[in-house]
Amino acid sequence: MKKFLLAGAVGFFLLSCSKKENTEAQALPSETSAVSEPVKANISGDQIIETLDCSGCHAVNERMIGPSYKEIAEKYSDKDIEMLASKIIEGGSGVWGGVPMAAHPQVSKEDAKKMVEYILSQKK
Ligand code: HEC
Repeated sequence: MKKFLLAGAVGFFLLSCSKKENTEAQALPSETSAVSEPVKANISGDQIIETLDCSGCHAVNERMIGPSYKEIAEKYSDKDIEMLASKIIEGGSGVWGGVPMAAHPQVSKEDAKKMVEYILSQKK
């Protein structure tokens, strides 16, 4: 009797186990797409900068046509992220000298903020 119960319990366990596997398999497609999206969105600020023309005018440590990222990081703080992101998209001038900062209308606000966060992290 005990053995029978045990076998029944094991059988039930296996059954519920395989049922669970089934639902997991069904849930997988949506799960993988949910995982791959953030990975795509997780391109870091410095990686975005590499795909753009920023390095033509900016370097981390030395002033070129534009200020170095270190200089920018020392001048601003996290509360300026929004403003600096707009400046990357819209361009601007008059803060560091007469040369204007190029506009990047193709850059999304989100990407611009990531680049600003990277630039501000160069402070040390
Ligand atoms: C054609 C040259 C040029 C390119 C390309 C360029 N910049 Fe600039 N950038 C400048 C100059 C010049 C300034 C200083 C503008 C000023 O004095 O207001 C500047 C300023 C900045 C500032 C500080 C803005 C402020 O108000 O202090 C940030 C942040 C910045 N650039 C980021 C970027 C990023 C990110 C890219 C790439 C998407 C980029 N820049 C591409 C020339 C450039």
